[in-house]
Amino acid sequence: MTMGLFVGEPAASPWPLADGAFLLRGFALPHEAALREDLGSVIEQAPLRHMVTPGGFRMSVAMSCCGALGWVSDQRGYRYDPIDPERGLPWPPMPASFVQFAREAAAQSGFDHFVPDACLINRYEPGARLSLHQDRDERDFSHPIVSVSLGLPAVFLFGGTRRTDKAQRVPLAHGDAVVWGGSARLRHHGVLPVKEGQHPFMGACRINLTFRKAG
Ligand code: SIN
Ligand code: FE2
Repeated sequence: MTMGLFVGEPAASPWPLADGAFLLRGFALPHEAALREDLGSVIEQAPLRHMVTPGGFRMSVAMSCCGALGWVSDQRGYRYDPIDPERGLPWPPMPASFVQFAREAAAQSGFDHFVPDACLINRYEPGARLSLHQDRDERDFSHPIVSVSLGLPAVFLFGGTRRTDKAQRVPLAHGDAVVWGGSARLRHHGVLPVKEGQHPFMGACRINLTFRKAG
């Protein structure tokens, strides 16, 4: 089975990964120029940084956020915070292009009226990875997670509700979106180490945006 048709080619309809989870190949391509431009101004205001896990490890992924709430990890734990601790200021507002994209991707997957209040920006340089985890710091799990990949390709791991459940390996390319909600909302997921490469628009990195209704 070829997952969602061909990597890097827009698919006509969402490809189910599980009940409530969909791969939307190329869904961000029509939004891509606006997303990139607005991303540039967000990370100019709130620079990407390597957060530290509660266990004291520096994350290989560099992060920033925009929207009313941002996700923060430090020695005290994980949480959503309206203030960027690095700058002591609110996170930059979520650009309209981001909100629009997230709403459309959610609606395409059967989740109508999605209004994200947090967007996490993850930058993976070659070698960076994200181990299997659940997104469970949000207040209400009835809202989906909308994720979009830009730049270098990566292998997304999409597992089950138990950490030990076998994970599917989903190759993601520039412009691909993944949406998971409903009974898939608490599935484990992660990203294998990103391989060396150059992307014509994004250079030697992969950027992932995840949209959440956190508060
Ligand atoms: C995340 O789980 O927050 C990011 C997933 C990804 O980079 O695709
Ligand atoms: Fe996640």
